[in-house]
Amino acid sequence: MTSEATRLDPPAKPTTEIEQRIIIRGGNPLRGTVRVGGAKNAVLKKMAAALLAADVSVLRNVPNLTDVHMMADVIRYLGAKVTIAGDEVTIDARDINELEAPYELVSQLRASFVVLGPLLARFGHAKVSLPGGCAIGERRIDLHERGLKILGADCKIEHGYVYASADKLTGSRIYLDRPSNGATENIMLAAALAEGQTIIENAAQDPEIVNLADFINAMGGRISGAGSYQMVIDGVKPSEMHGTTFETIPDRLEAGSFISAVMATGGEVTIEGLNPHHLYSVISKISEIGSEVAIYAPDTIKVKSHGRLRATDITTVPYPGFPTDLQAPIMSVLATCEGTSIITETIYENRFMQVGELRRMGADIALKGNAAVVKGVPRLMGAEVKASDLRAAASLIIAGLAAEGITELTGLSHLDRGYEHLEEKFRALGADIWRR
Ligand code: EPU
Repeated sequence: MTSEATRLDPPAKPTTEIEQRIIIRGGNPLRGTVRVGGAKNAVLKKMAAALLAADVSVLRNVPNLTDVHMMADVIRYLGAKVTIAGDEVTIDARDINELEAPYELVSQLRASFVVLGPLLARFGHAKVSLPGGCAIGERRIDLHERGLKILGADCKIEHGYVYASADKLTGSRIYLDRPSNGATENIMLAAALAEGQTIIENAAQDPEIVNLADFINAMGGRISGAGSYQMVIDGVKPSEMHGTTFETIPDRLEAGSFISAVMATGGEVTIEGLNPHHLYSVISKISEIGSEVAIYAPDTIKVKSHGRLRATDITTVPYPGFPTDLQAPIMSVLATCEGTSIITETIYENRFMQVGELRRMGADIALKGNAAVVKGVPRLMGAEVKASDLRAAASLIIAGLAAEGITELTGLSHLDRGYEHLEEKFRALGADIWRR
């Protein structure tokens, strides 16, 4: 435990001249209770789905994240009126007067590409910028395009934009070569207003997809099978769609990040407001590595960790397998486990960008194609590190919490896209962590 005398003082005043950073004095085991917020990846898609109805919808349990504000800007650009108050977002989509989502907006936030489906379905045409490059991988949209074409849309890519139009969308059977989240979402959003029945085979099964389907159904849509391999969408008329008020599911990736932090630092933390069913792949790995997890209530788990943990192998696969979005956080745990772990990344081509930074902290990690060979070292050391994407940022914070000495993390814009009040939440669990 860090004594009062050695605790980091909160910053006297914010410094504007140098890049904002998070400063962590590592080594405190985490103890206490933390509550997770609403799921970013569910909220963003529901904000686009609200465009399906010429009406007002209210989303609840929305985290205050830059990605949510950016998505609000995208749909405001299209003519929607968006109000963000506390954890509620109200979207009035009655007067949509722009059917083009420009590059400046879509390139900032790839998730906004899913406005294509609802705009096409409701207005018969849309022009949406291709999202462009991404640090973690290629992130193609060929499956979105193919699916919309099967529904009868004319889709062409010119000058960096997807132009989609259709006199009428007609339900059809669509097999996805891989269970892409984005493609499943764009297709289900378009098919929600198509004539007849659409069946998506090999659909993404993630909880955020189920939450989106439930939202569309609450708006008047008819979707069944969400969360399974085969999703069935019976199209309804635009006039049957209406606004609704809807709750967002808990963020399983925020919960998984807290779990990883307890494992890396030791201690005992109760995590509330999550759905343990969404985290089975992660919970099963926890006990393999040597921490304990108890499910206390439908929305509460307790994670307990002490002593040196054991190495294991992890492969990222689509849900319900181990999520790619927790690959970087769990790497910070495996970095100090006894033995050698192999992490295989199958979703993205370039999602090991945290590795160079973890090496600066003393980790022994070698990259071999899409695998990382992590030889556990007894302890990480604090260092200056920079985040290159959202989950790399979480991974480096977890490593910093566990490391000996001071870690300074920059690249915080990535962190703020997907974690709300992360340092405050860790501080409440006993960590010495400040932003200045
Ligand atoms: N892919 C294709 N063709 C397509 C679509 C996808 O080849 O038409 C490939 C992609 O290149 C990628 C893989 O399929 O390699 C997975 O892509 P997917 O479409 O499933 O991902 P996404 O919808 O772009 C969402 C999350 C990501 C998360 C992935 C995978 C949101 C806003 N983003 O992205 O979350 O990693 O699913 O689970 O929902 C994050 O939160 O940090 C994050 C990156």
